[in-house]
Amino acid sequence: MAIKILGIETSCDETAAGVVEDGRTLLSNVISSQADLHSVYGGVVPEIASRQHVRDLVPVLEQAAANSGFGLEDMDAIAVTFGPGLAGSLITGVNAAKAIAYSLGIPLLGVNHLEGHIYASWLAQGDLENDPGFPLACLVASGGHTDLLLMEGHGRYKLVGRTRDDAAGEAFDKAARILGLGFPGGPEIQRVSVGATGEEKLPRAWMKDTLDFSFSGLKTALLHLAQDRGIYPSPEDGVDQARQTHLVRELAAAFQESVVDVISSKLVTMAAKYRVKGLVLGGGVTANARLREEIVRRSPLPVIIPPPVLCTDNGAMIAACGYFQYQRGEESALDIDVDPGLPLG
Ligand code: KG4
Ligand code: ZN
Repeated sequence: MAIKILGIETSCDETAAGVVEDGRTLLSNVISSQADLHSVYGGVVPEIASRQHVRDLVPVLEQAAANSGFGLEDMDAIAVTFGPGLAGSLITGVNAAKAIAYSLGIPLLGVNHLEGHIYASWLAQGDLENDPGFPLACLVASGGHTDLLLMEGHGRYKLVGRTRDDAAGEAFDKAARILGLGFPGGPEIQRVSVGATGEEKLPRAWMKDTLDFSFSGLKTALLHLAQDRGIYPSPEDGVDQARQTHLVRELAAAFQESVVDVISSKLVTMAAKYRVKGLVLGGGVTANARLREEIVRRSPLPVIIPPPVLCTDNGAMIAACGYFQYQRGEESALDIDVDPGLPLG
């Protein structure tokens, strides 16, 4: 009998739930984004996020069950993100998951959000343990993390590289703010970069001889360049609209190219160093078309990349990850607490 798991995700600003069969088959995936609520502030406001999760979670859960063709009572287990993330946001999902698990008498599975991002690749390509096989080199690049993880088997990770300051997604969001673009910044930078000539250049923070990253210097370099070109803090007199649009496009592209160059280079280096069998991408930043294209171009090994909707936060990836915990009998206690700083590896 197929195992059906409901996954719940409320770690940041997406209220999401999905149903997955046997960790690989996506039956439903419902995401309610709060981006519009936060965009006026240029970033996620934790208090607004937690209140909105309370409003949205029940309808999202009902929709996820309905779209799967099953009822909550048909689920074999409930998986939920319990960290890392915003405490007030995580609590909503964890409490709902506890209530459902308790009332139905089924297992509760606390899932690490970063591990969930990795398991989105099992939804994209079901049998990674056999094709291409372990070990795998995983990149998790999101709003809060830029991690290189060696995955040696299900649930077994070694953190071999990470950012020492800003996360890649955070850097995209800050860069977008500098350029007067909307929130979240990543999709905006990608959108306006199309058609850039490449005439503007920004430095790369290579952090030589390590697999670690640094993005805060790049953000400062972008700020200085934007000031120098007369488009920050606001366009100078005499910079006409067409010129301004052109400059924003070129600076956005220069920023994107710098991030893409460093991340793809370090990921491919890591894959060779640890003699892995394949590369796995996850997290919102891996929705970036240039990053996806460049990693595939540079890697001699197979690269597994979820479709963009499964790269950003969703409940299905949590359900997929939960399935493998369920298989190992790793049930969580009903008094499990949220862990905003939960590490992986
Ligand atoms: O994984 P995610 O949805 O949430 C967190 O766990 O943080 O990642 C959100 C981040 C944001 O910083 C957003 O700007 C970035 O992912 N992002 C992108 C793209 N789509 C989302 N960054 C670059 N290019 C994109 N297309
Ligand atoms: Zn995420």
